[in-house]
Amino acid sequence: MNTQILLRSGAVAGIALLVQTAELKVPDLAKLPPAAAKKGVTYTKDIKPLFEKSCFGCHGPEKQKGDLRVDSLEALLKGGEHGKVVVPGKVDKSPLLWAVARLDEDTAMPPEGKADPLTKEQVALVRAWIEQGAK
Ligand code: HEC
Repeated sequence: MNTQILLRSGAVAGIALLVQTAELKVPDLAKLPPAAAKKGVTYTKDIKPLFEKSCFGCHGPEKQKGDLRVDSLEALLKGGEHGKVVVPGKVDKSPLLWAVARLDEDTAMPPEGKADPLTKEQVALVRAWIEQGAK
């Protein structure tokens, strides 16, 4: 093998590794707002109205970016192209929460400038919903 091919395969392996770590990377969860104090948080009553405004345009009946729909609880719990986006009771396994909290600019949802981002209070409500079992 000549040097050029060696260098090139090294770069490819490097990129593959980067892509993999980007997917698996859990952001600093200490930056999440604490869960809202509200009891009995449900998808239909509390979460759906927020997502309707900020997410349905890309994750609803018309478009399913990232193979994800968040317009029903069932579809949301199924997840997207990278698997589950919410695991009931598990904040550290729920990338949807990290996305709406905008912990990492590459995975922040909605994408910058495309729809209204959730307020800190709304993110706190999403956290409470997940911690209470994502009902
Ligand atoms: C303007 C379009 C747009 C809006 C609005 C939007 N998203 Fe996304 N979303 C995307 C795109 C595009 C991807 C795929 C990103 C990728 O694969 O790199 C994505 C991916 C995701 C993923 C990762 C899915 C997976 O399995 O990889 C989650 C979670 C997510 N969005 C949640 C949300 C939530 C929650 C909202 C509303 C608060 C929202 N998105 C609003 C475009 C949007």
